[in-house]
Amino acid sequence: MAGVTASGLTKRFGRTEALKAVDLAIEDGEFLALLGPSGCGKTTLLRLLAGFEVPDAGELRLGGQIVARAGWALPPEARNVGMVFQSYALWPHMSVAGNVAFALRVRGVAAGERRRRVAEALDLVGLGGFAERKPAQLSGGQKQRVALARCLAMRPAVVLLDEPLANLDAHLRESMQAEFRRFHREIGATFVYVTHDQNEAMALADRIAVMDRGALQQVAAPQSLYREPATEMVARFVGRGMLLPATVRGRQNGFIVAEALGSPVCVRGSGEAGEQRLLCVRPADLGLGASGIAARVTAATFQGAATVVTVLAEAGEEALTLECHGAPPAEGDLVHVCLRDGWLLPGKVGA
Ligand SMILES: Nc1ncnc2c1ncn2[C@@H]1O[C@H](COP(=O)(O)OP(=O)(O)OP(=O)(O)O)[C@@H](O)[C@H]1O
Ligand SMILES: [Mg+2]
Repeated sequence: MAGVTASGLTKRFGRTEALKAVDLAIEDGEFLALLGPSGCGKTTLLRLLAGFEVPDAGELRLGGQIVARAGWALPPEARNVGMVFQSYALWPHMSVAGNVAFALRVRGVAAGERRRRVAEALDLVGLGGFAERKPAQLSGGQKQRVALARCLAMRPAVVLLDEPLANLDAHLRESMQAEFRRFHREIGATFVYVTHDQNEAMALADRIAVMDRGALQQVAAPQSLYREPATEMVARFVGRGMLLPATVRGRQNGFIVAEALGSPVCVRGSGEAGEQRLLCVRPADLGLGASGIAARVTAATFQGAATVVTVLAEAGEEALTLECHGAPPAEGDLVHVCLRDGWLLPGKVGA
């Protein structure tokens, strides 16, 4: 078993800085999700952990052992790490059992032990009866399980998964998520799971590392990432956060009293009177009331359980989105928006 420590890990492709001095410590046995928009460097970080890329600067340790530094990397086969690719990468001419056994054979694992490990890995992913099938005779979800079984049969200390469920339909994705949690519990390895789907990251991970343009933005448990985003990017990316300019007025009963869009609001966070800050609010934090922030309705879209209402505050420029469960207002109506919850981002505006 092994934890992972990256210090100042940097990777450039020509002029693209795919990873910028990433510092990240993953605990032994932890389930960490790497979350971020397309092109932010998730696969690059995973490939560095696996040993498929050499860093330009910084250092990487697996279980305390240095496995990469500037210009040098221990090759993948010398690390106790398994990777599951998004594309499955199965050999089409080999049976399911043959695919799972292949890397074991390359590593010289004896035939008896090989058979035992293949059977165990296929049982773990629920494909015990599929050993003789060819990949073409499997569904997408079953192929994904074979790819996972192939990785688990190697008994890696660190399992790296690159968007393993991206090709599956929503229903199958959900049931596979529960299974990934079970695999993690049963084998006890460290899991690093790349996704750009925040709900998947929240459902699966002990902690989530959010990346943007090659840099780590925040590493936190799902709850605190959602409730207490550290940066503007995280606030907007996770949970459809909206940011409002706010001025801190003081403190009351452990909360901050601030002014946003011309109205007093009571929010979570810290700050000193007079500071200009950004306030993160989510659609579920907002409601329509008799008083509050005066705003004009710009759109109202019926979505079944709720009507999604977009408003423009009289004193603001950013559109606010909220969910209305009662009788919805009409486009052009003047309404009052009240705030049930909000979080003041830590940094001062302009600082
Ligand atoms: N082999 C390469 N050569 C040149 N540029 C590369 C290479 N691999 C990645 N990049 C660039 O590095 C950046 C990060 O790419 P990466 O594949 O890590 O992103 P990602 O977060 O995995 O994105 P996605 O969610 O789309 O898979 C991108 O700008 C990409 O174009
Ligand atoms: Mg990728």
